[in-house]
Amino acid sequence: QVSWKLADHPKLPKGKPIAVVVLDGWGENKPDEFNCIHVAQTPTMDSLKQGAPEKWRLIRAHGTAVGLPTEDDMGNSEVGHNALGAGRIFAQGAKLVDLALASGKIYEGEGFKYIRKSFEKGTLHLIGLLSDGGVHSRLDQLQLLLKGASECGAKRIRVHILTDGRDVLDGSSVGFVETLENDLTNLREKGVDARIASGGGRMYVTMDRYENDWNVVKRGWDAQVLGEAPHKFTNAVEAVKKLRENANDQYLPAFVIVDENEKAVGPIVDGDAVVTFNFRADRMVMIAKALEYQDFDKFDRVRFPKIRYAGMLQYDGELKLPSHYLVSPPEIDRTSGEYLVHNGIRTFACSETVKFGHVTFFWNGNRSGYFNPEMEEYVEIPSDVGITFNVQPKMKALEIGEKARDAILSRKFDQVRVNIPNGDMVGHTGDIQATIVACKAADEAVKMILDAIEQVGGIYVVTADHGNAEDMVKRNKSGQPVYDKNGNLQILTSHTCQPVPIAIGGTGLAPGVRFRNDVPDGGLANVAATVMNLHGYVAPNDYEPTLIEVVDN
Ligand code: 3PG
Ligand code: CO
Repeated sequence: QVSWKLADHPKLPKGKPIAVVVLDGWGENKPDEFNCIHVAQTPTMDSLKQGAPEKWRLIRAHGTAVGLPTEDDMGNSEVGHNALGAGRIFAQGAKLVDLALASGKIYEGEGFKYIRKSFEKGTLHLIGLLSDGGVHSRLDQLQLLLKGASECGAKRIRVHILTDGRDVLDGSSVGFVETLENDLTNLREKGVDARIASGGGRMYVTMDRYENDWNVVKRGWDAQVLGEAPHKFTNAVEAVKKLRENANDQYLPAFVIVDENEKAVGPIVDGDAVVTFNFRADRMVMIAKALEYQDFDKFDRVRFPKIRYAGMLQYDGELKLPSHYLVSPPEIDRTSGEYLVHNGIRTFACSETVKFGHVTFFWNGNRSGYFNPEMEEYVEIPSDVGITFNVQPKMKALEIGEKARDAILSRKFDQVRVNIPNGDMVGHTGDIQATIVACKAADEAVKMILDAIEQVGGIYVVTADHGNAEDMVKRNKSGQPVYDKNGNLQILTSHTCQPVPIAIGGTGLAPGVRFRNDVPDGGLANVAATVMNLHGYVAPNDYEPTLIEVVDN
């Protein structure tokens, strides 16, 4: 039985409205031409920085500070928002899958035993992101799973690949496909009929999120399940090389691999087993619904094969989706959102579609829905669909700012929480000029929210989930930009390992509140206790320590 009542903070008052602003993909970095935040005009964020060290500091947003396996793992929105919302560091999917594969426990679990029943007569299909980015999936985990499954009796395996170029360099897909083909050749030599069956770019095929565009999932369904796609090849390396002539890795169109009779080599049929091998939740929920739900009306599936389906993890704890999974997800319980609702904090959360689940689902520990609909309101602003955000770099920043402003001025909420997506979503396109515009737009949205907080005598907490826009180029060990063999700059579309800023302030901030200097390694997980304090409460004992102290002046 959880005791939800939080102790009163000995010094801080209750009742001040608080804006919690998360700038997505906004890290701190040395100023140069590839730091879009530096190049852009960002007067609001610049002015917050003037408050250092008492009201502005840096916190860690990557690696072990957010539950990732190593310090080389860049941050990402899932682990970042999980840490922000949950106030503790949980071993994340990437790490849990590593452990389960290393110990072999993955093969003893309920999920694997379930799909294994199909190995005798059916095909094992593996669908997921082919990348070593470590954000949604990792190639080495796929390699181990292929080996393990074949040792456990899978005789026919089909891999449905999604190319990355977003968490890794664009163009790296070719090397990943070659590596996979090599492994599959080795398996074939051991008598396992193992092949790549289909593919496509992650942003165009399968990996949509938050129901932004079901067409993306449909394209994948058609290729993976029905064996139908606009492009047919007999070889996946050739497919990717050819399709890259007109698109980058993120946006490759769907293709299927066919045999000499033009017949798809690996549609999903009755009796097969399917595993989606991504560990990260957001971009797997939609395909999981298509694979699992009998009742489904998001697109015409044409055929709904009777399969045994398991996710690498369970992707949604509230929906219990999917019902079978190979590795148990981190048990992110007792999040700050749940505590605060139990303590009477009325909460408003908002972003546009592509980041909506970040400030709701991820924030609440990969749980969809409200804790208490009477106390919470979550507003989603529809994202533009079917574009890459470099053509619309302002995205819906203004609208998010306005919604937050109105929520604050309505005085109906104690916490108004937003995610401002621009730095991240435009940063992922690798378009430097557009990312500069994006950063300016994000800064303007922050200003709108801070002005509203000022009007109601509230408090603001401005931070970010991980770096992205502050470095748009791949660098060597000494920090110099790297060029490819044709002399082109290697553009960094991915996140970074940089720390992120956090700023506190507002006319409602009690005098004497400042950042402590005894948590120099503080990270995103320290933010929840900080926000609870500002609401007038002491955080639960097992939360990471607060970043603030109150000095008597
Ligand atoms: C994505 O899913 O868009 C990227 O892989 C990671 O970006 P995010 O962690 O900022 O969502
Ligand atoms: Co991102």
